Amino acid sequence: MTDVGTPTEQPYDFRLSDYARSIETLEHPQDYLAEKVATTRFERSPDGAIYLYRHEDILKLNRHPAILGNGGRGSMVPGMPFVPLEVDGDEHSRWRRILDPLFAPKQIARLEGTIRELTAELVDGFADDASVEMYSRFCVPLPCITFLRLFGAPVEDLDFFLDYKRDMLRPECDTPEENFEKMQGAALRIAAYFIDVMQKRRKAGPGDDILWALLQAEIDGEPLSEAQLLSIIMLMMFAGLDTVTASLSLMIHWLAQHRDVRQRIIADPTLTRGLVEELLRYESPVQTGTRYAAEDVDLGDGLVIKEGEAILASWGTANLDPNAHPDPLGVDIDRPRHQHIAFASGTHRCLGSNLARLELRVALDELHKRLPNYSLQPGETIRLVNMPVRTIEYLPLSIGGAPAG
Ligand code: HEM
Repeated sequence: MTDVGTPTEQPYDFRLSDYARSIETLEHPQDYLAEKVATTRFERSPDGAIYLYRHEDILKLNRHPAILGNGGRGSMVPGMPFVPLEVDGDEHSRWRRILDPLFAPKQIARLEGTIRELTAELVDGFADDASVEMYSRFCVPLPCITFLRLFGAPVEDLDFFLDYKRDMLRPECDTPEENFEKMQGAALRIAAYFIDVMQKRRKAGPGDDILWALLQAEIDGEPLSEAQLLSIIMLMMFAGLDTVTASLSLMIHWLAQHRDVRQRIIADPTLTRGLVEELLRYESPVQTGTRYAAEDVDLGDGLVIKEGEAILASWGTANLDPNAHPDPLGVDIDRPRHQHIAFASGTHRCLGSNLARLELRVALDELHKRLPNYSLQPGETIRLVNMPVRTIEYLPLSIGGAPAG
């Protein structure tokens, strides 16, 4: 497995971008982002990247063979690219051919019963209380425990995983070098842990969890090496945990303030699918992706991305582009299926979108069966972050007493 960047190049750190700074304190970044995409096609930022805002440009970009993904200037952990996010070209296609079947709709649908049970258990843990802090009691544990079960890892180790995820996604240092150093430390910790889990999993024998399927998988006729397995598992952990947590927190926060829509989906749970899609579009939990141009790339009408340029592609603005989504600031759960790109598009499109959609739909269904009435808790203030993943990370709700609005 080769690293595509050269050692002298520093990966572009979108966490420290002007884009991140512009929205970091906004409760409703949608207003700012919708204005931006309505008036601006692209900007070359002093932070060294070209920012792309429009849906059509980003679709073209993501399909272009000369556009590299996140690993285009080397990987977050040097010498150990995360598969498939940080590999490109034929190597990326080979990996996706192996991984896609594990996350295909049929495979993922088999998990529905387990996710329903887990949701019910979590909600039963607080349903009789007067209030609950939903982020820590529901939004964090649901995807994390689902994930640990999928990978055959002990659920008691949840806190260890949460630390890894935090250091990987939000190192929160002042310089890119310090950020990357902290991420590297987290990667080494989790690698040691998973080497042990894999050994135990091999001894335990066949099962229908994803870890077992990966242990049986082959690339070019050979079983995956330990380093390849670790790289895949570690990426899935940081790509698949925070994103679902974030999406759940945003959706429950929105529903707590829109009783009419909540009542509609409770009366007709088949509408939950449309709600999930529309809120993924409106909220864009993952705001941006990083791309690099391997050669000059002409996107038409005078916009040429230069060879070597770092590109910040904004899924957040593309999902509010009025040319792709009429009335972009209106949340309409009956919207015909416009192609939002909350899961990106093209080559590096999210591998786990079927799993994410299932978790979100089932979580909301089961939550509403047990807890149809909830509202933001009076006198409390939510806490949110917008980058790298937009999340309501403190979400106190009133859930007891008379029907809430
Ligand atoms: C609502 C939840 C989720 C959202 C919004 C989301 C969003 C995204 C986005 C925007 C990308 C593109 C990243 C880029 O190229 O810069 C991506 C890639 C990816 N996601 Fe997700 N994701 C979610 C859930 C998951 C889950 C549950 C998994 C678990 C397997 C997962 C695994 C991945 C992987 C492995 C990639 C890399 C794909 C590649 O490079 O070929 N994601 N996701």
